Amino acid sequence: MEKKQELYSGKAKSVFATDDNDYVVLSFRDDTSAFDGEKVEQLSRKGEVNNKFNAYIMQYLADNGIPTHFEKLLNETESLVKNMKMIPVECVVRNVASGSLVRRLGVEDGLELNPPVFEFFLKNDALHDPMVNEYHIETFGWAKAEDVNKMKELTFKVNELLKKLFADAGMILVDYKLEFGLFKGEVYLGDEFSPDGCRLWDAETRKKLDKDRFRQGLGGVIEAYEEVARRIGVPL
Ligand code: TYD
Repeated sequence: MEKKQELYSGKAKSVFATDDNDYVVLSFRDDTSAFDGEKVEQLSRKGEVNNKFNAYIMQYLADNGIPTHFEKLLNETESLVKNMKMIPVECVVRNVASGSLVRRLGVEDGLELNPPVFEFFLKNDALHDPMVNEYHIETFGWAKAEDVNKMKELTFKVNELLKKLFADAGMILVDYKLEFGLFKGEVYLGDEFSPDGCRLWDAETRKKLDKDRFRQGLGGVIEAYEEVARRIGVPL
């Protein structure tokens, strides 16, 4: 497999073509952004930690019946993944209230949500990722109704698997965001799962172990990501 030209560069990852049109190289950079790209910094080792973290989680999910983009780790900062047509909608599940839910609805930060809340957001930085629903997604043609149902079903399955994985390691999976794509007409989980796209709190102390450390300028961002990785057994 030969790595070819860059196809796309996002806020934290770049995508490169390969000599096989079915696969691309996902390259995790140290760039870290928040607030729709308004705050950007380079955090040493982040690309490597997130690449290995994502590989571990995607493999765990695949082993438990979730179709994912992940094929294999290529090196410290790169993975080989399926070349998918990404669906421009983010799927968020919340087990505990925090972040934009608290700002939007005025509920208490840390409130346990039972049943968990599901939300869709449109991927569009210029519009600040507005919340959308199934009707918007179908009417504007962002995804077919059956694929929307599949994304929802898979996102909830991921919740059961990862809530337990993190709970067994002494952490609360507060919320997370998933993105899906189509590969040969089928829905697969793509993008990444890392502490950049979820909230994780220590179960005892409620210490934040995720990107909120960066958003809120708390420091120790990568140290926290490495602690999460170590606790669940990601080989770093
Ligand atoms: P949310 O609370 O809606 O957003 P904010 O980060 O602005 O408070 O986010 C819920 C979870 O989903 C949180 O863990 C961050 C993640 N997320 C992203 O990673 N990217 C996004 O564009 C959005 C909307 C959420």
